[in-house]
Amino acid sequence: MLADTAELARDAAQRGQGLAAFNVVLLDHAEAFIDAAQEAQLPLVLQLSQNAVAYHGGRLAPIGRALIELASEATVPVSVHLDHAESTDLCRAAVDLGFTSIMYDGSVLPDDVNRATTAAMVEMAHASGVSVEAELGEVGGKNGVHDPKARTKPEDAAQFVADTGVDLLAVAVGSSHAMATRDAVLDTELIAAIKRAVPVPLVLHGSSGVPDDGMVAAINAGMTKINVSTHLNVVFTSRIRDILLHDPGLVDPRKYVGPATGIVRDEVRRLMELYAPWCAVA
Ligand code: G3H
Ligand code: ZN
Repeated sequence: MLADTAELARDAAQRGQGLAAFNVVLLDHAEAFIDAAQEAQLPLVLQLSQNAVAYHGGRLAPIGRALIELASEATVPVSVHLDHAESTDLCRAAVDLGFTSIMYDGSVLPDDVNRATTAAMVEMAHASGVSVEAELGEVGGKNGVHDPKARTKPEDAAQFVADTGVDLLAVAVGSSHAMATRDAVLDTELIAAIKRAVPVPLVLHGSSGVPDDGMVAAINAGMTKINVSTHLNVVFTSRIRDILLHDPGLVDPRKYVGPATGIVRDEVRRLMELYAPWCAVA
């Protein structure tokens, strides 16, 4: 069933658990994520980034509608979220299409512009019952440069939420986007301090670089929505590379995409159960 990201996150936060949010590149990924969520009986966030929309020719509607349809048919709560949108037009388009949440990412903008634009996106989205995530303290790695040093101050985070009315807040606590190794070290004391200061669920970006034990510690410290992309791409592409290397004559994509999405489904289920070890929705 189609669900709202903020509601799922608030429920997870109340239980002290993580909410899995996985990035969709191909429709096959969304199908695999939903299969895993149904197997695990756990809620899920399907997220589509502005970069992924660009990959699909800049056309949000075809893949966006497919995601909404898949989420609606699921037997567990699944939200459909626009991830890292720097374009306010794309945010509006996602709200109009029926996405249940958007992330307006103004983290690279001057602080006053980020605050004002985020507040405007909140007003626009809330008018349609859509929730909004924003980012304060730029999480590195979006431009390929890993920078785990950025930090969000608890008092700034509290003021940002008060100024903008966002439903979820992404914070910089030691992760960096697009890491293909899992050795990032998160500042769990800072997570706990931000959690005490901020009334909305916290979001971790760049979660691929965080090892399992670090993620459990981060969730226990108060992190809720866990965004993962690169790690699943590593799993998916490694399997395809392996299959094609062993069978160079293979041409039917179902014979390599199918097994690769199967491996992704298994890893997604494992991660979901790591983030929420004792919760089942049904
Ligand atoms: O918004 C998406 C995430 O922050 C994914 O980051 O590719 O490092 O897992 P990642
Ligand atoms: Zn991110």
